Amino acid sequence: MMVTKIENTYPSILKIKKQIQDEFFGEATGHDWYHIERVYKNALKIHELEGGNPEIIAYAALLHDIADHKFVEDHESETDKRIREILGRENISQSIVDEVLHIAHNISYKGANVANKITSLEGKIVQDADRLDAIGAIGIARAFAYGGNKNRAIYLPTQKPTMHESFDAYKNDEGHTINHFYEKLLLLKDKMNTETGKKIAQERHDFMQNFLDQFYAEWEAN
Ligand code: ADP
Ligand code: NI
Repeated sequence: MMVTKIENTYPSILKIKKQIQDEFFGEATGHDWYHIERVYKNALKIHELEGGNPEIIAYAALLHDIADHKFVEDHESETDKRIREILGRENISQSIVDEVLHIAHNISYKGANVANKITSLEGKIVQDADRLDAIGAIGIARAFAYGGNKNRAIYLPTQKPTMHESFDAYKNDEGHTINHFYEKLLLLKDKMNTETGKKIAQERHDFMQNFLDQFYAEWEAN
């Protein structure tokens, strides 16, 4: 299996994976260990078909949420610090560290009309894997878990979605969770980078669309 082969080739990957598992286990806000593990597995699966450097992909997948902007004061500098620290302990080359930092700094969705700054193939792959975990059945579960954690309504029919023009506007929006589907989740299929990512996203997109149809039907007592 691809994951085992890569882990056997690069022992540092397995060491960092164990460390991240210990650190994130029990985190319930949508950035738990299992989210990271799914991104890691999906990224390596996409890599199998799309190429790229597996070491960069593995580190970026494992470290992409190391300092989430929703939980730390200064996301940029904390991400920088933690990634340099963790990869530095394994003596990973500077060029790989730089590639991983580029991905971690630019992977996040920042609003419907905000440009994506990811340029490397490895970044495109890890971003696709992260986005796949925001859609489909798991994406739906994560969205409502996030909304519940923030005390938000599942749906308020009079409150319409916003196509955000800036990360600040997107980040500070406190709308109901169904809006999040229109502000992010349903837009992701057309923002996928790789052919493999697009294919998987389409299936998950259709599933979300069916979920919404059913949701509105039940809401209207149809
Ligand atoms: P990303 O991985 O693109 O950086 P986030 O860290 O913003 O995503 O979000 C983590 C999870 O929480 C994702 O599944 C995302 O869709 C969900 N989420 C983020 N913001 C909201 C929101 N306002 N309402 C519901 N779910 C959200
Ligand atoms: Ni993530």
